[in-house]
This record gives sequence, C-alpha cells and structure tokens, in this order.
Amino acid sequence: MILKLPGLIDPHVHLRDPGATHKEDWHSGTCAALAGGFTVVMDMPNNTPPLTDAQTLAAKQRAASERAVCDYGIHFGAGADNAQIAASFAAQCSGLKMYLDQTFGPLKLDGLDSLISHMQTFPREVPILCHAEGRTIAAALFVAQIYDRPVHICHVSRKEEIELIRAAKEKGLRVTCEVTPHHLLLTLDDCETIGAGKCEVRPMLATRADVDALRANLDIVDCFATDHAPHTLFEKESANPPPGYPGLETALALYLELVREGIITLDDLIARCYENPRKIFKVPPQAETWIEVDVDAEWTARGANMYTRAKWTPFEGRTMRGQVTRVVLRGETVFENDCVIAKSGTGRDIRPLN
Ligand code: NCD
Ligand code: ZN
Repeated sequence: MILKLPGLIDPHVHLRDPGATHKEDWHSGTCAALAGGFTVVMDMPNNTPPLTDAQTLAAKQRAASERAVCDYGIHFGAGADNAQIAASFAAQCSGLKMYLDQTFGPLKLDGLDSLISHMQTFPREVPILCHAEGRTIAAALFVAQIYDRPVHICHVSRKEEIELIRAAKEKGLRVTCEVTPHHLLLTLDDCETIGAGKCEVRPMLATRADVDALRANLDIVDCFATDHAPHTLFEKESANPPPGYPGLETALALYLELVREGIITLDDLIARCYENPRKIFKVPPQAETWIEVDVDAEWTARGANMYTRAKWTPFEGRTMRGQVTRVVLRGETVFENDCVIAKSGTGRDIRPLN
C-alpha cells in the first residue's frame, strides 16, 4: 500500500557544513533527508567554528543555499557572551540552541548568567532549544518560566526527565519536547552488537525502563527528531569516538514500526513529524509538497547504501518496513526510485518569515 503523507519536518540535524564536510555537507545531508521523507530539516550550530555571530551565520546561509535539495532552517548557537547578537539575528533563524551539557564540539554554556541572559533577551516568538540532561532540564524549565518564555527540550531520553516535563506541562508551563528514534528503539544492551565506539551518543542510550517510560508518555511528546549526527566509521572506531548517530534515512521506517506495534497511530506520527514541528518552529507552508511511502516494502538497513557520508548506521542489518518511493517538493518530483533528482540549491531557507 502506498501512503501519501506531508513532507516530514526534522527540527534537529547536524549537517556539518561548513567545517566538517568529510562527515556531511548540505548536499549529502539533504539527499539523506529526501530519501528519508523529510522536506524540511533544521540544522544545529555546533559547527567548527560554532555558529554564534554574523559571519558564521552568513557562511552557513551561503553553503545551504548553494547545496541544499530540501528546505531548511538554521538554528543559532548560544555562546557565553552573545545574547544581544543572537537576538539580533532571531528573524533569520529557526531557533536558538543552548548546550547545557557536554556533547560534540565546544558550544557549552556553563554559567547561570549566560542561561539567564539568553532566556531574557531572545525574542519570545522564536524557539529556544535546549540540550539539557537530568538536572539541567530542571534549570532550563525554571529559568524559562521566570523569564516567561517557551522552551523546547531536545532528545529527552530518561524516565525522570519525561515525567518532569509531563508535570511541567500539567502545571501549564510552556514547554515542548522531542524524542529520537534511537532513544525509543535501542537500549544500552544494544551496544554489544553496535560496538562501543559506534554506540557513543548524547544523551547516551538508556535502560529498558527509560525506553518504556518514553513510550508510555508519547502523548506529551511534541516532536520526533532524528538528531542526525554523522561521524565517519573511522572516527567512530577510533580511540576517542565522537558521539552521534546518522538517522535521517532510517527514522520513518522506525516510526512506522511503532505504529505497527500499536504504540502510536499514524495520526500521532504525522502530528510529531509534521504538524507540531510546523507550529512550534513556524515552518511556512510548502505548496504541492508530499511524500509517497510504500508501507509494506521491506529493506535491510545498510550504512554503505545510504546518502549520508557517515556510511554506517546503529541499525545496521535490521529489517525495515516502509520505504519512501517518491518526494514531491513544490510540484516537482525531487526523489524517486532511490534517486535524488533535485539540483543542488533547490532547497529554501524557511526564514525570514514574510
Ligand atoms: C551531536 C553531534 O555529533 O553534533 N552528537 C550527539 O551525540 N547527539 C551533538 C548533540 O546533539 O548532542
Ligand atoms: Zn544534536
């Protein structure tokens, strides 16, 4: 059966361009997006150097406009001292990303002062996204509440975290959140098969109890996000493996697995991959845009066959069901029969808003 769905929106990807294009660039990353059924991706600022000022924003805008084959948003990076600068570029960005815990790259906020100044200064109508784990989620929620602004918590992965967010929502706090396919489908036990270096990811995979808690609270999860974080196989198998998994090309089949298991409905999937991210991140309508998915098509996940430059997947060898057969963007077929047809530069920035 072929399903026609809206073009999916992924609010959290790392396309590494500029700065680390051996891992991914705007072309390879957005080809992976189309192959996975995404017509909008929002790119994170932990580049080399990080996207924290006018110059680094302009460089990313240029790279994306030259190479992207799907639409995109650019998240600005919160640095220790750039609250005014970040606010001045808010209209050109899909969000402001704050790293409150250690992950890949140097973009980590340590001081309470910088957390406060960004929450105070950044325009309320553009989302602030937080990488926050454990107690820093409580800090992000509290400071956002004090300065009366919404906050989006990225890749929630633990039982106590999702339960705190549920409680915050029940109290009326303006918080939204996302979960990744890997935190919904894998546990620490899978590291044995995946391999220790490849398994590194932030937040780290968790326990069965955590996965069960995420699944039990999916009703309060606003978005699914891949956190597509490509690193090469060589890097992942090195002595100092960087954290992160590529995810764009496996996500939809994994979400469909949750539908088949009865954990979510197809409508829930569309709400989390399209309607909610569209509202939260104010994605402009993409006229005459849709994806066609053969929900019965079986295939085996093989990193080597993927568009991502990472060329590996934590789901290597897994039997997947559901394959994107065609993507239409603004009336043009941009992906069909496993081939990207769109020319580099077809993708548009979702900002500024008209
Ligand atoms: C991300 C990366 O590689 O940029 N890694 C990861 O493990 N998720 C950074 C991040 O999102 O934390
Ligand atoms: Zn990320």
